[in-house]
Amino acid sequence: MSEFQEPDTFAALEKREWAKSDVAQSYAEVFAKASDMVVPSLVAAVGAGPDIAVLDLCCGQGNVAAGLLKAGARVTGLDFSPAMLKIARAAVPEVRFVEGDAMSLDFEDQTFDAVTIGFGMPHVPDPPKVVAEARRVLRTGGRLAFSVWCGPEVDTALGYVFGAIGQHGSPDIALPPGPGANDYADPTIAFPVLENAGFSDCRQFTVASRWHVQDPGAPYDFFLEGTARGGALLRPQPPENAAAIRAAVVSKVLEKHGSGPDWDVPIPAVVTVATAI
Ligand SMILES: C[S@@+](CC[C@H](N)C(=O)[O-])C[C@H]1O[C@@H](n2cnc3c(N)ncnc32)[C@H](O)[C@@H]1O
Repeated sequence: MSEFQEPDTFAALEKREWAKSDVAQSYAEVFAKASDMVVPSLVAAVGAGPDIAVLDLCCGQGNVAAGLLKAGARVTGLDFSPAMLKIARAAVPEVRFVEGDAMSLDFEDQTFDAVTIGFGMPHVPDPPKVVAEARRVLRTGGRLAFSVWCGPEVDTALGYVFGAIGQHGSPDIALPPGPGANDYADPTIAFPVLENAGFSDCRQFTVASRWHVQDPGAPYDFFLEGTARGGALLRPQPPENAAAIRAAVVSKVLEKHGSGPDWDVPIPAVVTVATAI
């Protein structure tokens, strides 16, 4: 029986999937090898250093927080998943991690010098609300930087997996309505939202993040086991659909990245930076 026989909302799906300790663990151990590659860019983009107070929203397993701490910043990490926070607290015990919702922050106005969001924007039902909350808790002149995976218009594991789901997935399995996974990689979407919330000097750059894998089907496994949105589409697939999706991902990796025996599969990211005015 499908996981989605009952009506579901995007918000409920996100909360439920990220709360699963096996999803959190798999994301932290495997999927995040690519998001780890984006951490130095986020840390540099907000100018993190000694005496800078940074709030890391959707902190997950704590990789961005660890990078900020290494740069000398005072770091607060926030996430709504207890499973993720447990991993983060064990990984970076020096950082203060709090449970909360990025759309409704329990901090005073102008508390932080910088805000980072590593791959959190696609997971919140109302991204403009997160941007507005980030602006509220930032002091004037402080910077916000967030990362989002590039969309399927470039070579990316994300495109290979979601393209394969589009071709071979069961038509009965769909996500509830929510923001697009790559919306905030698009400056025509991200910049107006930032400017409306009180940011200026918006800019973007791309980071060539990737996975090094020994199995051309590994990107399918990473999305299956360690993501909320992809996992919610992949986990309930009937066995024949699941096998066809995985086989299509294998074909795409072989076609685009050669015959192996190992592969660098791109999953590039866009980092957006803006200054609070
Ligand atoms: C893709 S993970 C990113 C983890 C980490 N920042 C990174 O860069 O690898 C997304 C995280 O956002 C968290 N999240 C999603 N929606 C949230 C919300 N509304 N409030 C707080 N955290 C949220 C999830 O629990 C998850 O830990």
